[in-house]
Amino acid sequence: MQVVQYIQKMTRPYPGVYRTLTRVYGVCAEVGFFFHALLTGKLFVRPDKGRFSAFLSGQKVLSYPIRGANFTSIEEFRRWLERCGLDYVEGGWTFYLPPQEGLYLYFGFLERDYPPGAGLKILKDFRSPDEAVYTRHGLNPAPGAALKRSLTPSPMGLLRVANYLYSHGLGMRVYDLTALKGETATLTCYVIRDVHGPAVQSHDYDSFMEAISGHLDRGEILTIHQHSNVMWDFKPPDCSGNLIIDSATGKPLFVDFQGFLLKDEDRILARIANEVKDKTHFGGSRFYRGGGSYLYQAIPGLVVGKRDMGARWNVFLEMMKEAGFSLTDRRVYDIGCNTGLILYNALSEGAQWVMGWDMPEVVKGARRILLALGATRFDLYGEQITENTDFVSRIPERYRKEKDGVLFFLAVSDHIGFPEGIAELPWKYMFYEGHSRQGYEFTLERIRAVSWLNKAKILVRRSFADGDTPRREVILLKRSF
Ligand SMILES: C[S@@+](CC[C@H](N)C(=O)[O-])C[C@H]1O[C@@H](n2cnc3c(N)ncnc32)[C@H](O)[C@@H]1O
Repeated sequence: MQVVQYIQKMTRPYPGVYRTLTRVYGVCAEVGFFFHALLTGKLFVRPDKGRFSAFLSGQKVLSYPIRGANFTSIEEFRRWLERCGLDYVEGGWTFYLPPQEGLYLYFGFLERDYPPGAGLKILKDFRSPDEAVYTRHGLNPAPGAALKRSLTPSPMGLLRVANYLYSHGLGMRVYDLTALKGETATLTCYVIRDVHGPAVQSHDYDSFMEAISGHLDRGEILTIHQHSNVMWDFKPPDCSGNLIIDSATGKPLFVDFQGFLLKDEDRILARIANEVKDKTHFGGSRFYRGGGSYLYQAIPGLVVGKRDMGARWNVFLEMMKEAGFSLTDRRVYDIGCNTGLILYNALSEGAQWVMGWDMPEVVKGARRILLALGATRFDLYGEQITENTDFVSRIPERYRKEKDGVLFFLAVSDHIGFPEGIAELPWKYMFYEGHSRQGYEFTLERIRAVSWLNKAKILVRRSFADGDTPRREVILLKRSF
């Protein structure tokens, strides 16, 4: 690298020579990187495994308006930020707007929908999240870098990369990927937990490098660049500004994620499912017909389970349609959420935030699965539910006053009964699913005996079997306040 910089410096006074050498360097670098990417498999890492790949990153992108924003170019956006008096940090590919006074004035959704202390990372490629390219070559052309940049995952794919780093304690939490609608342009924006803290010390740098190198050696996550040891992004002492000490925990976190790729995401998820399956069983191990223990909730297209989550979810969707409401922009609560796939499906229908409760060990597994799928808008609470559990004190304050949430209470009543605290959660609609061999009359009697359910109106009912479970009753209820 130093040799290249030296030659650049020496030839700069001679434009013809400089241009020719730059061109030659560019071609050599592209060809060299092509062979590297071919041999390491980086050229083919995009998940294309049919049903599973369609299931991955199902979390729907939400759109929010930005107040008074009419810009079409980066220059105009910069001027707009300055007119608004907003502080920002400009990088090669993004603008970062840290939490600050005035941010909520222009980005009001942040205060209403996201945890306090969130910042905005806005891509300079002013297109919507399904089209934008994080490292759009044309924005910062550099000789020999075009192919490398074309391998950067899509904004959605990068959400899973960020989740991977976060779940291994190496990156900060990303709360969401959103579309910000100005008057003339749509921006792609990550809502992230702002990380700040004291200066990085050499022992912080060393511990981070040791941890990231371990993961790179394992081969699930790769740097796009061929040599991580010469990457500008990993330069000591603070990875060129990318490594920040999180003052909340004292741990160093790497705040950029666009330089990485995940390899074989189906295998990553299958590994996680295999690691969590024993802990997420309830009432003893379950055995698949072909042998071996298996999950309660199947992961469509990837891992078998007792319940067919695709078929089941389709029934819930039909019931909501019949009742005339959807999950769009709602808060969703799931009691006894198991591996979290009901919550994940709710996110793919546009739920704004989802929250689930289960045993501590089960929740640890659910968190890993949801993050690997690319979900971000969720909170999980690991605790043993009793008749006295206080649910509402757990949920973020910002949601407590709203009354239009949707509650899932599925296949759990025989285990936990009907704790009174569930009535305090701000839900309007409730899906109740019983257990096998409990008919409609029995189910109805049971529901009507619950003080906080006996006035709720029954909107729709179904009785169906899925996966390995016999027929069960499902009832959709609505309550009024
Ligand atoms: C039969 S599974 C149903 C899972 C999920 N609701 C579904 O229908 O797909 C029951 C779930 O309730 C959880 N559960 C049972 N008793 C519990 C308790 N006391 N506290 C927290 N979770 C409990 C189990 O860990 C398990 O995930």
